[in-house]
Amino acid sequence: MLIRSKRGWELPESAVTPESAFLTRRNVIAAGMGLATAGISIPASAQRLADVPDPTADLYPARRNERYTVERPLTAEQVAANYNNFYEFGGSKQIARAAQSLPLRPWTVKIDGMVEKPQTVDIDKLIRAMPIEERVYRFRCVEAWGMTVPWTGFPIKALMDMVRPLGSAKFVRMETFDTQPWAPGMRSPWYSWPYVEGLTIDEAANDLAILVTGIYGKPVPRQHGAPLRLIVPWKYGFKSVKSIVRISFVAERPVSFWERLQGGEYGFWANVNPAVAHPRWSQATEELIGGGGRVNTQIFNGYGEFVAPLYKDRQNERLWA
Ligand code: MTE
Repeated sequence: MLIRSKRGWELPESAVTPESAFLTRRNVIAAGMGLATAGISIPASAQRLADVPDPTADLYPARRNERYTVERPLTAEQVAANYNNFYEFGGSKQIARAAQSLPLRPWTVKIDGMVEKPQTVDIDKLIRAMPIEERVYRFRCVEAWGMTVPWTGFPIKALMDMVRPLGSAKFVRMETFDTQPWAPGMRSPWYSWPYVEGLTIDEAANDLAILVTGIYGKPVPRQHGAPLRLIVPWKYGFKSVKSIVRISFVAERPVSFWERLQGGEYGFWANVNPAVAHPRWSQATEELIGGGGRVNTQIFNGYGEFVAPLYKDRQNERLWA
C-alpha cells in the first residue's frame, strides 16, 4: 500500500528479506529497536498488556467449518504473526511488537445507522453471542503476496440478524479506532484516520464474509487486528479492516481509507482478479509468504463459485481493485 515513496514490498523479489531472516528472535528484537531509534518507545505497561488472559480464551479452538477447503498448506503461525500490514502501528511489515501497545479491554463495538436495534455491545458479550467457527481461507494482499490462514469468527450475517438492518441500508461501513497516543503510525501526516472500509449489504450477508475473533485456534493477537476484524477472502486484503470499533449500516457507499488516499489504485470493490493489473504491477501471480514459491492468482481468489453472482448486475463498475 504505497502512496508517496518506494517501500520494501516494491523491491524486486530478489531484494526482499527472506522470512527466515526476520523471524529469528534476534531480528524481532532488532525490529523493535528500530522503533526505538525512530523515537518510538513501547511503555512497560503496554508490554504487560500482552500477558492479560483473554476473557474468551475458553472458546478456542472452535469447530472447523469444512465447507471451505484450500488446496495449499497453512502458512506457519509465526510467519503470519510477523508479517503484517497495520499502518496505525507503522508502515513496515514488522509492526507486531509495536502493536502490543493496543489496549484490548474494555472494548465496545458501536452498531448504528439504519438498523432496528442500534446498540453498543461489549466485545466479550458479542463474541459469546455469535456462532464462532474456524474457516481456513486463502488470503491475498493487493501487494501480490498470499497466505493461507485458519481464522475463527462468525458470519457478518449473524450480526445483521441481531441488529436487523432496515431496507434503506445499502452498505456496511466498518471503522478502526481513531488516533491514539499508543499507535505510533497514526502520527504520520499522510493518512486520514480512522481506517474505514465498506461492503454492500449483499456482500456482507454472504456466508464467506466473517468478523474474525481468533486465528490458529486462539484469540486473534493484536497485530492481526484484535479483538475484531473483517475477513472477506475474495477481495484484496486491504478490505479486511482491523480492530473494529464501529459498524454502521448506511445508504451511501463509504469511501474507504486507501480509496480516499489513492483512489486510482485502490477502489471500493477490490475483488481479486489475476487478469487486471494494479497500475504499477501485475496481479497474475502471488508469492506465498513463508514458503511455497509463486503461484497463480485465481479470480475472486478462488471463491468465484460463492461470490460471482453478487456482481452479475454490476458489470459496468470497477470491480477489480
Ligand atoms: N486495517 C487497519 N485498521 N489498518 C491497516 O493498516 N491493513 C490492511 C488490512 N486491514 C490494515 C487493516 C491490509 S493492506 C492488509 S493486507 C491486511 O489488513 C493485513 O492483515 P494481516 O496483517 O492480519 O495479515
